[in-house]
Amino acid sequence: MGSFGKTQNKPHVVCVPYPAQGHINPMLKLAKLLHFKGDFHVTFVNTEYNHKRLLNSRGSDSLNGLSSFRFETIPDGLPESDVDVTQDVPSLCDSTRKTCLPHLKKLISNLNKAVDIPPVTCIVADGIMSFALDAAEELSVPAVLFWTNSACGFMCYLQYRMLIEKGFTPLKDSSYITSGYLDTTIDWVPGIKEIRLKDIPSFIRTTDPNDVMVDFVLWECERALKASAIILNTFDALEHDVLEAFSSINNLPPVYSIGPLNFLFKDVTDKELNSIGSNLWKEERECLEWLESKEPNTVVYVNFGSVTVMTNDQLIEFAWGLANSEKTFLWVIRPDLVAGENSVLPREFLEETKNRGMLSSWCPQEEVLDHSAIGGFLTHSGWNSTLESVCGGVPMICWPFFAEQQTNCRFSCHEWGIGLEIEDAKRDKIEKLVRELMDGKKGEDMKEKALRWKELAIDAASGPFGSSFLNFQKIFSDVLLF
Ligand code: UDX
Repeated sequence: MGSFGKTQNKPHVVCVPYPAQGHINPMLKLAKLLHFKGDFHVTFVNTEYNHKRLLNSRGSDSLNGLSSFRFETIPDGLPESDVDVTQDVPSLCDSTRKTCLPHLKKLISNLNKAVDIPPVTCIVADGIMSFALDAAEELSVPAVLFWTNSACGFMCYLQYRMLIEKGFTPLKDSSYITSGYLDTTIDWVPGIKEIRLKDIPSFIRTTDPNDVMVDFVLWECERALKASAIILNTFDALEHDVLEAFSSINNLPPVYSIGPLNFLFKDVTDKELNSIGSNLWKEERECLEWLESKEPNTVVYVNFGSVTVMTNDQLIEFAWGLANSEKTFLWVIRPDLVAGENSVLPREFLEETKNRGMLSSWCPQEEVLDHSAIGGFLTHSGWNSTLESVCGGVPMICWPFFAEQQTNCRFSCHEWGIGLEIEDAKRDKIEKLVRELMDGKKGEDMKEKALRWKELAIDAASGPFGSSFLNFQKIFSDVLLF
Protein backbone atom coordinates (compact mmCIF):
# COMPACT_ATOMS: atom_id res chain seq x y z
CA MET A 1 0.00 0.00 0.00
CA GLY A 2 1.32 3.51 0.66
CA SER A 3 0.95 6.76 -1.16
CA PHE A 4 0.66 7.10 -4.89
CA GLY A 5 2.00 10.62 -5.11
CA LYS A 6 0.43 12.67 -7.87
CA THR A 7 -3.37 12.69 -8.06
CA GLN A 8 -3.33 11.43 -11.62
CA ASN A 9 -1.44 8.30 -10.57
CA LYS A 10 -3.79 7.35 -7.78
CA PRO A 11 -5.86 4.22 -8.21
CA HIS A 12 -9.52 5.16 -8.70
CA VAL A 13 -12.30 2.96 -7.36
CA VAL A 14 -15.94 3.39 -8.33
CA CYS A 15 -18.19 2.12 -5.51
CA VAL A 16 -21.73 1.14 -6.45
CA PRO A 17 -23.90 0.30 -3.40
CA TYR A 18 -27.38 -1.19 -3.64
CA PRO A 19 -29.65 1.76 -2.81
CA ALA A 20 -30.83 0.80 0.67
CA GLN A 21 -29.56 1.77 4.13
CA GLY A 22 -28.27 -1.70 5.06
CA HIS A 23 -26.12 -1.73 1.92
CA ILE A 24 -24.99 1.91 1.77
CA ASN A 25 -23.60 1.80 5.33
CA PRO A 26 -21.06 -1.00 4.84
CA MET A 27 -20.15 0.17 1.31
CA LEU A 28 -19.41 3.67 2.58
CA LYS A 29 -17.19 2.24 5.31
CA LEU A 30 -15.32 0.16 2.75
CA ALA A 31 -14.96 3.18 0.44
CA LYS A 32 -13.53 5.27 3.27
CA LEU A 33 -11.09 2.50 4.15
CA LEU A 34 -9.92 2.29 0.53
CA HIS A 35 -9.45 6.04 0.52
CA PHE A 36 -7.69 6.23 3.87
CA LYS A 37 -5.57 3.10 3.81
CA GLY A 38 -4.97 2.64 0.10
CA ASP A 39 -4.94 6.28 -0.99
CA PHE A 40 -7.64 5.56 -3.56
CA HIS A 41 -9.52 8.28 -5.35
CA VAL A 42 -13.13 7.27 -4.65
CA THR A 43 -16.27 7.85 -6.67
CA PHE A 44 -19.30 6.74 -4.63
CA VAL A 45 -22.37 6.26 -6.80
CA ASN A 46 -25.75 6.83 -5.16
CA THR A 47 -29.13 6.71 -6.81
CA GLU A 48 -30.63 10.15 -7.29
CA TYR A 49 -33.47 9.31 -4.90
CA ASN A 50 -31.19 8.22 -2.07
CA HIS A 51 -28.69 10.99 -2.58
CA LYS A 52 -31.49 13.52 -2.10
CA ARG A 53 -32.45 11.70 1.09
CA LEU A 54 -28.85 11.64 2.36
CA LEU A 55 -28.61 15.40 1.84
CA ASN A 56 -32.05 16.02 3.41
CA SER A 57 -31.22 14.02 6.50
CA ARG A 58 -28.10 16.16 7.03
CA GLY A 59 -29.69 19.43 6.03
CA SER A 60 -26.84 20.10 3.59
CA ASP A 61 -26.66 20.58 -0.16
CA SER A 62 -23.45 18.67 -0.92
CA LEU A 63 -21.34 15.81 0.36
CA ASN A 64 -18.43 16.66 -1.92
CA GLY A 65 -16.15 18.41 0.58
CA LEU A 66 -13.13 16.30 -0.31
CA SER A 67 -11.50 16.52 -3.73
CA SER A 68 -10.58 12.83 -3.87
CA PHE A 69 -13.78 11.34 -2.39
CA ARG A 70 -16.64 12.30 -4.66
CA PHE A 71 -20.33 11.44 -4.82
CA GLU A 72 -22.07 10.95 -8.15
CA THR A 73 -25.62 9.83 -8.93
CA ILE A 74 -27.48 7.66 -11.40
CA PRO A 75 -31.26 7.16 -11.69
CA ASP A 76 -32.74 3.98 -10.15
CA GLY A 77 -35.29 3.60 -12.95
CA LEU A 78 -38.34 3.85 -10.67
CA PRO A 79 -40.99 6.52 -11.17
CA GLU A 80 -40.16 9.80 -9.46
CA SER A 81 -41.35 9.95 -5.86
CA ASP A 82 -40.83 12.62 -3.25
CA VAL A 83 -41.94 10.52 -0.31
CA ASP A 84 -39.22 9.92 2.24
CA VAL A 85 -39.67 6.17 2.64
CA THR A 86 -37.94 2.86 1.97
CA GLN A 87 -38.51 1.85 -1.63
CA ASP A 88 -40.27 -1.40 -2.50
CA VAL A 89 -37.53 -4.05 -2.58
CA PRO A 90 -38.72 -6.26 -5.50
CA SER A 91 -39.41 -3.21 -7.71
CA LEU A 92 -36.05 -1.69 -6.87
CA CYS A 93 -34.17 -4.94 -7.52
CA ASP A 94 -35.90 -5.42 -10.84
CA SER A 95 -35.41 -1.83 -11.87
CA THR A 96 -31.72 -1.47 -10.93
CA ARG A 97 -30.91 -4.74 -12.68
CA LYS A 98 -32.65 -3.70 -15.88
CA THR A 99 -32.00 0.03 -16.15
CA CYS A 100 -28.83 1.17 -14.36
CA LEU A 101 -26.04 -0.18 -16.58
CA PRO A 102 -26.13 2.48 -19.35
CA HIS A 103 -26.18 5.25 -16.75
CA LEU A 104 -23.19 3.77 -14.93
CA LYS A 105 -21.27 3.36 -18.20
CA LYS A 106 -21.97 6.96 -19.14
CA LEU A 107 -20.87 8.18 -15.72
CA ILE A 108 -17.62 6.22 -15.92
CA SER A 109 -16.95 7.46 -19.43
CA ASN A 110 -17.37 11.05 -18.19
CA LEU A 111 -15.06 10.37 -15.24
CA ASN A 112 -12.43 9.03 -17.62
CA LYS A 113 -12.69 12.12 -19.80
CA ALA A 114 -12.21 14.55 -16.89
CA VAL A 115 -8.68 15.99 -16.77
CA ASP A 116 -8.47 16.44 -12.99
CA ILE A 117 -9.56 12.90 -12.02
CA PRO A 118 -7.40 9.77 -12.30
CA PRO A 119 -8.78 7.14 -14.69
CA VAL A 120 -11.02 4.47 -13.17
CA THR A 121 -8.90 1.46 -12.20
CA CYS A 122 -11.44 -0.81 -10.48
CA ILE A 123 -15.07 -1.18 -9.48
CA VAL A 124 -16.50 -2.40 -6.20
CA ALA A 125 -20.22 -3.05 -6.57
CA ASP A 126 -22.79 -4.49 -4.21
CA GLY A 127 -23.37 -8.21 -4.82
CA ILE A 128 -26.86 -7.37 -6.04
CA MET A 129 -25.71 -4.59 -8.38
CA SER A 130 -23.79 -7.02 -10.56
CA PHE A 131 -24.65 -5.15 -13.77
CA ALA A 132 -21.56 -3.13 -12.81
CA LEU A 133 -19.44 -6.14 -13.85
CA ASP A 134 -20.29 -5.34 -17.48
CA ALA A 135 -19.03 -1.78 -17.10
CA ALA A 136 -15.77 -3.13 -15.64
CA GLU A 137 -15.40 -5.66 -18.42
CA GLU A 138 -15.73 -2.95 -21.03
CA LEU A 139 -12.93 -1.01 -19.35
CA SER A 140 -10.84 -4.14 -18.66
CA VAL A 141 -10.54 -3.29 -14.97
CA PRO A 142 -11.08 -5.66 -12.03
CA ALA A 143 -14.55 -5.77 -10.47
CA VAL A 144 -15.19 -6.94 -6.94
CA LEU A 145 -18.64 -7.75 -5.62
CA PHE A 146 -19.35 -6.83 -2.01
CA TRP A 147 -22.18 -9.05 -0.71
CA THR A 148 -23.17 -7.07 2.36
CA ASN A 149 -24.92 -9.96 4.09
CA SER A 150 -23.61 -12.85 6.18
CA ALA A 151 -21.59 -15.72 4.73
CA CYS A 152 -24.35 -18.14 5.82
CA GLY A 153 -26.94 -15.97 4.05
CA PHE A 154 -24.87 -15.77 0.89
CA MET A 155 -24.25 -19.53 0.96
CA CYS A 156 -28.00 -20.17 1.19
CA TYR A 157 -28.71 -17.81 -1.72
CA LEU A 158 -26.23 -19.83 -3.76
CA GLN A 159 -28.46 -22.90 -3.15
CA TYR A 160 -31.57 -21.42 -4.78
CA ARG A 161 -30.96 -23.23 -8.10
CA MET A 162 -30.62 -26.55 -6.27
CA LEU A 163 -33.72 -25.86 -4.14
CA ILE A 164 -35.72 -25.44 -7.33
CA GLU A 165 -34.21 -28.51 -8.97
CA LYS A 166 -34.97 -30.62 -5.91
CA GLY A 167 -38.56 -29.32 -5.87
CA PHE A 168 -38.43 -27.45 -2.54
CA THR A 169 -39.55 -24.18 -4.16
CA PRO A 170 -41.89 -22.86 -5.53
CA LEU A 171 -44.30 -24.17 -2.90
CA LYS A 172 -47.23 -26.19 -4.22
CA ASP A 173 -49.72 -23.86 -2.55
CA SER A 174 -49.76 -21.25 0.20
CA SER A 175 -50.86 -23.78 2.85
CA TYR A 176 -47.23 -25.00 2.78
CA ILE A 177 -46.20 -21.81 4.57
CA THR A 178 -48.23 -22.65 7.67
CA SER A 179 -48.43 -26.46 7.49
CA GLY A 180 -45.07 -27.19 9.10
CA TYR A 181 -43.49 -27.93 5.73
CA LEU A 182 -40.91 -25.17 6.30
CA ASP A 183 -39.63 -27.13 9.32
CA THR A 184 -38.19 -29.68 6.88
CA THR A 185 -34.43 -29.83 7.33
CA ILE A 186 -31.83 -30.22 4.59
CA ASP A 187 -28.26 -31.34 5.11
CA TRP A 188 -26.56 -30.69 1.81
CA VAL A 189 -25.75 -26.98 2.02
CA PRO A 190 -21.94 -26.69 1.99
CA GLY A 191 -20.53 -25.65 5.37
CA ILE A 192 -23.91 -25.92 7.15
CA LYS A 193 -24.64 -29.21 8.92
CA GLU A 194 -28.38 -28.90 8.91
CA ILE A 195 -30.81 -26.10 8.17
CA ARG A 196 -34.60 -25.82 8.12
CA LEU A 197 -36.30 -24.45 5.02
CA LYS A 198 -37.66 -21.65 7.20
CA ASP A 199 -34.08 -20.52 7.88
CA ILE A 200 -33.24 -20.21 4.19
CA PRO A 201 -33.60 -16.60 2.89
CA SER A 202 -37.33 -16.00 2.80
CA PHE A 203 -37.89 -15.50 -0.93
CA ILE A 204 -38.28 -19.28 -1.40
CA ARG A 205 -41.68 -19.01 0.34
CA THR A 206 -43.46 -18.39 -2.91
CA THR A 207 -45.92 -20.34 -5.02
CA ASP A 208 -45.10 -18.32 -8.15
CA PRO A 209 -42.72 -20.11 -10.56
CA ASN A 210 -41.82 -16.68 -11.99
CA ASP A 211 -41.33 -14.91 -8.68
CA VAL A 212 -39.36 -11.67 -9.21
CA MET A 213 -37.16 -12.10 -6.15
CA VAL A 214 -36.31 -15.75 -6.83
CA ASP A 215 -35.45 -14.84 -10.40
CA PHE A 216 -33.35 -11.93 -9.11
CA VAL A 217 -31.45 -14.12 -6.62
CA LEU A 218 -30.74 -16.74 -9.32
CA TRP A 219 -29.49 -14.07 -11.66
CA GLU A 220 -27.25 -12.33 -9.11
CA CYS A 221 -25.78 -15.62 -7.84
CA GLU A 222 -24.89 -16.65 -11.35
CA ARG A 223 -23.32 -13.27 -11.99
CA ALA A 224 -21.24 -13.60 -8.81
CA LEU A 225 -19.17 -16.22 -10.65
CA LYS A 226 -17.95 -13.53 -13.05
CA ALA A 227 -16.44 -11.22 -10.43
CA SER A 228 -12.69 -10.92 -9.82
CA ALA A 229 -13.37 -11.48 -6.11
CA ILE A 230 -16.13 -11.40 -3.52
CA ILE A 231 -15.97 -9.45 -0.28
CA LEU A 232 -18.01 -10.30 2.81
CA ASN A 233 -18.45 -8.27 5.96
CA THR A 234 -17.87 -11.12 8.37
CA PHE A 235 -14.90 -12.77 10.06
CA ASP A 236 -13.30 -16.14 9.97
CA ALA A 237 -13.88 -17.21 13.58
CA LEU A 238 -17.60 -16.43 13.34
CA GLU A 239 -18.40 -18.21 10.07
CA HIS A 240 -15.40 -20.45 9.60
CA ASP A 241 -17.12 -23.55 8.18
CA VAL A 242 -19.23 -21.65 5.69
CA LEU A 243 -16.33 -19.47 4.58
CA GLU A 244 -14.22 -22.54 4.03
CA ALA A 245 -16.98 -24.26 2.09
CA PHE A 246 -17.07 -21.51 -0.56
CA SER A 247 -13.99 -23.13 -2.07
CA SER A 248 -16.15 -26.20 -2.88
CA ILE A 249 -18.44 -24.16 -5.14
CA ASN A 250 -17.51 -24.47 -8.78
CA ASN A 251 -16.14 -21.33 -10.38
CA LEU A 252 -16.85 -19.08 -7.42
CA PRO A 253 -14.15 -16.39 -7.31
CA PRO A 254 -12.03 -16.04 -4.15
CA VAL A 255 -14.01 -14.84 -1.12
CA TYR A 256 -12.38 -12.33 1.25
CA SER A 257 -13.95 -11.91 4.69
CA ILE A 258 -12.96 -8.46 5.94
CA GLY A 259 -15.38 -7.82 8.78
CA PRO A 260 -16.47 -6.48 11.03
CA LEU A 261 -15.84 -3.32 9.01
CA ASN A 262 -16.86 -1.41 12.16
CA PHE A 263 -13.65 -2.53 13.81
CA LEU A 264 -11.40 -2.25 10.77
CA PHE A 265 -12.84 1.20 10.34
CA LYS A 266 -11.75 2.34 13.80
CA ASP A 267 -8.29 3.11 12.31
CA VAL A 268 -9.77 5.74 10.01
CA THR A 269 -8.88 8.94 11.80
CA ASP A 270 -9.46 11.50 9.07
CA LYS A 271 -12.04 13.91 10.52
CA GLU A 272 -13.31 15.19 7.21
CA LEU A 273 -13.76 11.68 5.88
CA ASN A 274 -15.52 10.61 9.05
CA SER A 275 -17.91 13.52 8.83
CA ILE A 276 -19.44 12.01 5.68
CA GLY A 277 -22.48 10.17 7.02
CA SER A 278 -24.83 7.66 5.42
CA ASN A 279 -28.14 8.11 7.26
CA LEU A 280 -31.20 8.24 5.06
CA TRP A 281 -33.26 9.43 8.04
CA LYS A 282 -32.43 12.34 10.31
CA GLU A 283 -30.43 11.01 13.22
CA GLU A 284 -31.68 11.80 16.73
CA ARG A 285 -28.78 11.79 19.18
CA GLU A 286 -30.70 12.65 22.37
CA CYS A 287 -30.93 8.97 23.28
CA LEU A 288 -27.17 8.85 23.94
CA GLU A 289 -27.53 11.43 26.68
CA TRP A 290 -30.51 9.53 28.08
CA LEU A 291 -28.44 6.31 28.10
CA GLU A 292 -25.79 8.11 30.16
CA SER A 293 -28.24 8.27 33.04
CA LYS A 294 -28.83 4.50 33.05
CA GLU A 295 -27.00 1.73 34.91
CA PRO A 296 -24.88 -0.75 32.89
CA ASN A 297 -26.80 -3.57 31.16
CA THR A 298 -30.24 -2.32 32.14
CA VAL A 299 -31.71 -1.04 28.88
CA VAL A 300 -33.39 -3.10 26.15
CA TYR A 301 -32.73 -1.55 22.74
CA VAL A 302 -35.43 -2.17 20.11
CA ASN A 303 -34.92 -1.43 16.43
CA PHE A 304 -36.12 -3.22 13.30
CA GLY A 305 -33.75 -1.64 10.76
CA SER A 306 -34.60 0.24 7.61
CA VAL A 307 -36.84 -2.11 5.61
CA THR A 308 -39.05 -4.03 8.07
CA VAL A 309 -42.72 -3.16 7.91
CA MET A 310 -45.22 -4.44 10.48
CA THR A 311 -48.92 -4.08 11.15
CA ASN A 312 -50.21 -1.77 13.85
CA ASP A 313 -51.43 -4.85 15.74
CA GLN A 314 -47.89 -6.22 15.82
CA LEU A 315 -46.59 -2.86 17.01
CA ILE A 316 -49.08 -2.97 19.86
CA GLU A 317 -48.03 -6.51 20.84
CA PHE A 318 -44.39 -5.34 21.01
CA ALA A 319 -45.46 -2.30 23.05
CA TRP A 320 -47.28 -4.37 25.67
CA GLY A 321 -44.57 -7.03 25.69
CA LEU A 322 -42.06 -4.33 26.57
CA ALA A 323 -44.33 -2.60 29.05
CA ASN A 324 -45.19 -5.85 30.86
CA SER A 325 -41.52 -6.87 31.10
CA GLU A 326 -41.06 -3.83 33.36
CA LYS A 327 -37.65 -3.17 31.79
CA THR A 328 -36.22 0.16 30.70
CA PHE A 329 -36.16 0.43 26.92
CA LEU A 330 -35.06 2.56 23.98
CA TRP A 331 -37.39 1.88 21.07
CA VAL A 332 -36.72 3.29 17.62
CA ILE A 333 -39.89 3.51 15.53
CA ARG A 334 -39.03 4.54 11.97
CA PRO A 335 -41.67 6.85 10.43
CA ASP A 336 -42.56 4.13 7.87
CA LEU A 337 -42.28 1.11 10.19
CA VAL A 338 -46.02 0.47 10.25
CA ALA A 339 -47.74 -0.51 7.00
CA GLY A 340 -50.13 1.90 5.41
CA GLU A 341 -50.43 4.51 8.12
CA ASN A 342 -48.56 6.17 10.94
CA SER A 343 -47.87 4.09 13.99
CA VAL A 344 -50.34 4.56 16.80
CA LEU A 345 -49.25 3.50 20.26
CA PRO A 346 -51.93 3.13 22.96
CA ARG A 347 -52.13 6.08 25.34
CA GLU A 348 -52.09 3.67 28.34
CA PHE A 349 -48.79 2.22 27.12
CA LEU A 350 -47.23 5.68 26.81
CA GLU A 351 -48.51 6.64 30.26
CA GLU A 352 -47.32 3.43 31.90
CA THR A 353 -43.80 3.53 30.43
CA LYS A 354 -43.14 7.28 30.46
CA ASN A 355 -40.47 7.02 33.17
CA ARG A 356 -38.60 4.09 31.70
CA GLY A 357 -39.13 4.14 27.95
CA MET A 358 -37.53 6.37 25.37
CA LEU A 359 -38.94 6.55 21.84
CA SER A 360 -37.01 7.80 18.85
CA SER A 361 -37.40 7.63 15.07
CA TRP A 362 -33.77 7.05 13.99
CA CYS A 363 -30.73 6.77 16.22
CA PRO A 364 -26.94 6.43 15.93
CA GLN A 365 -27.24 2.64 16.25
CA GLU A 366 -23.55 1.72 16.41
CA GLU A 367 -22.99 4.16 19.27
CA VAL A 368 -26.11 2.92 21.02
CA LEU A 369 -25.00 -0.72 20.80
CA ASP A 370 -21.60 0.30 22.08
CA HIS A 371 -23.08 1.96 25.16
CA SER A 372 -22.60 0.16 28.47
CA ALA A 373 -26.25 0.77 29.46
CA ILE A 374 -27.53 -1.53 26.71
CA GLY A 375 -28.17 -5.04 28.05
CA GLY A 376 -29.95 -6.58 25.07
CA PHE A 377 -31.15 -5.88 21.54
CA LEU A 378 -34.56 -6.78 20.14
CA THR A 379 -33.74 -6.87 16.43
CA HIS A 380 -35.00 -7.96 13.02
CA SER A 381 -31.63 -9.73 12.50
CA GLY A 382 -30.46 -7.59 9.58
CA TRP A 383 -26.84 -8.43 8.98
CA ASN A 384 -25.48 -5.01 9.91
CA SER A 385 -27.53 -4.97 13.11
CA THR A 386 -26.37 -8.48 13.99
CA LEU A 387 -22.72 -7.62 13.43
CA GLU A 388 -23.03 -4.30 15.25
CA SER A 389 -24.52 -6.22 18.17
CA VAL A 390 -21.56 -8.63 18.10
CA CYS A 391 -19.21 -5.61 18.08
CA GLY A 392 -21.00 -4.22 21.14
CA GLY A 393 -21.00 -7.59 22.92
CA VAL A 394 -24.80 -7.38 23.15
CA PRO A 395 -27.07 -10.49 23.13
CA MET A 396 -30.24 -10.40 21.04
CA ILE A 397 -33.89 -11.31 20.74
CA CYS A 398 -34.47 -12.01 17.05
CA TRP A 399 -37.61 -11.33 15.06
CA PRO A 400 -36.47 -11.81 11.45
CA PHE A 401 -38.55 -10.06 8.83
CA PHE A 402 -37.34 -11.17 5.40
CA ALA A 403 -34.42 -12.05 3.11
CA GLU A 404 -31.43 -13.68 4.85
CA GLN A 405 -32.48 -12.29 8.24
CA GLN A 406 -34.01 -15.74 8.84
CA THR A 407 -30.58 -17.31 8.34
CA ASN A 408 -28.87 -14.72 10.53
CA CYS A 409 -31.43 -15.42 13.25
CA ARG A 410 -30.82 -19.17 13.03
CA PHE A 411 -27.07 -18.71 13.34
CA SER A 412 -27.37 -16.13 16.14
CA CYS A 413 -29.59 -18.45 18.18
CA HIS A 414 -28.20 -21.89 17.39
CA GLU A 415 -24.59 -21.52 16.26
CA TRP A 416 -23.29 -18.49 18.11
CA GLY A 417 -25.47 -18.76 21.22
CA ILE A 418 -26.25 -15.05 21.35
CA GLY A 419 -29.92 -14.92 20.36
CA LEU A 420 -33.42 -15.99 21.39
CA GLU A 421 -35.97 -16.26 18.59
CA ILE A 422 -39.48 -14.85 18.72
CA GLU A 423 -41.59 -17.45 16.94
CA ASP A 424 -44.87 -15.69 17.50
CA ALA A 425 -44.89 -11.96 18.24
CA LYS A 426 -47.48 -11.97 20.99
CA ARG A 427 -47.16 -9.77 24.10
CA ASP A 428 -46.80 -12.57 26.66
CA LYS A 429 -44.07 -14.30 24.62
CA ILE A 430 -42.24 -11.04 24.08
CA GLU A 431 -42.45 -10.20 27.77
CA LYS A 432 -41.07 -13.63 28.71
CA LEU A 433 -38.16 -13.40 26.27
CA VAL A 434 -37.27 -9.86 27.37
CA ARG A 435 -37.19 -11.00 31.01
CA GLU A 436 -35.08 -14.04 30.07
CA LEU A 437 -32.66 -11.87 28.10
CA MET A 438 -32.23 -9.28 30.84
CA ASP A 439 -32.52 -11.36 34.05
CA GLY A 440 -32.46 -15.06 33.16
CA LYS A 441 -29.73 -17.68 33.13
CA LYS A 442 -29.92 -17.95 29.34
CA GLY A 443 -29.52 -14.19 29.09
CA GLU A 444 -26.43 -14.35 31.27
CA ASP A 445 -24.89 -17.11 29.14
CA MET A 446 -25.67 -15.22 25.97
CA LYS A 447 -24.05 -12.06 27.34
CA GLU A 448 -20.89 -14.01 28.12
CA LYS A 449 -20.82 -15.49 24.63
CA ALA A 450 -21.52 -12.12 23.03
CA LEU A 451 -18.53 -10.63 24.85
CA ARG A 452 -16.38 -13.54 23.68
CA TRP A 453 -17.47 -12.98 20.05
CA LYS A 454 -16.66 -9.32 20.45
CA GLU A 455 -13.11 -10.19 21.51
CA LEU A 456 -12.74 -12.53 18.54
CA ALA A 457 -14.06 -9.80 16.24
CA ILE A 458 -11.47 -7.37 17.60
CA ASP A 459 -8.76 -9.99 17.06
CA ALA A 460 -9.89 -10.57 13.46
CA ALA A 461 -9.71 -6.88 12.62
CA SER A 462 -6.41 -6.22 14.40
CA GLY A 463 -2.99 -6.11 12.79
CA PRO A 464 -0.65 -7.61 12.09
CA PHE A 465 -2.18 -11.10 12.07
CA GLY A 466 -5.98 -10.76 12.36
CA SER A 467 -7.75 -12.71 9.58
CA SER A 468 -9.83 -9.77 8.36
CA PHE A 469 -6.91 -7.37 8.66
CA LEU A 470 -4.82 -9.66 6.45
CA ASN A 471 -7.65 -10.29 3.99
CA PHE A 472 -8.14 -6.56 3.63
CA GLN A 473 -4.48 -6.17 2.66
CA LYS A 474 -4.72 -9.14 0.31
CA ILE A 475 -7.67 -7.73 -1.56
CA PHE A 476 -5.50 -4.72 -2.39
CA SER A 477 -2.51 -6.63 -3.62
CA ASP A 478 -4.33 -9.58 -5.23
CA VAL A 479 -7.18 -7.74 -6.88
CA LEU A 480 -7.75 -4.01 -6.57
CA LEU A 481 -4.22 -2.90 -7.47
CA PHE A 482 -3.46 -5.84 -9.71
C1 UDX B 1 -31.12 -5.10 4.95
C2 UDX B 1 -31.21 -6.48 5.52
O1 UDX B 1 -31.93 -6.45 6.69
C3 UDX B 1 -29.92 -7.13 5.81
O2 UDX B 1 -30.11 -8.40 6.35
C4 UDX B 1 -29.15 -7.18 4.59
O3 UDX B 1 -27.96 -7.89 4.79
C5 UDX B 1 -28.89 -5.77 4.21
O4 UDX B 1 -30.09 -5.06 3.98
P1 UDX B 1 -31.81 -3.53 7.05
O5 UDX B 1 -33.06 -4.28 7.11
O6 UDX B 1 -31.89 -2.09 7.01
O7 UDX B 1 -30.87 -4.02 5.86
O8 UDX B 1 -31.00 -3.96 8.36
P2 UDX B 1 -29.49 -3.91 8.74
O9 UDX B 1 -28.69 -4.81 7.87
O10 UDX B 1 -29.44 -4.18 10.18
O11 UDX B 1 -29.01 -2.42 8.44
C6 UDX B 1 -29.53 -1.27 9.07
C7 UDX B 1 -28.43 -0.26 9.23
O12 UDX B 1 -29.01 1.00 9.58
C8 UDX B 1 -27.45 -0.61 10.32
O13 UDX B 1 -26.14 -0.30 9.92
C9 UDX B 1 -27.86 0.28 11.48
O14 UDX B 1 -26.79 0.69 12.32
C10 UDX B 1 -28.43 1.48 10.77
N1 UDX B 1 -29.46 2.12 11.61
C11 UDX B 1 -30.67 1.50 11.78
C12 UDX B 1 -29.18 3.30 12.25
O15 UDX B 1 -28.08 3.86 12.13
N2 UDX B 1 -30.15 3.85 13.03
C13 UDX B 1 -31.36 3.31 13.22
O16 UDX B 1 -32.18 3.87 13.96
C14 UDX B 1 -31.64 2.08 12.55
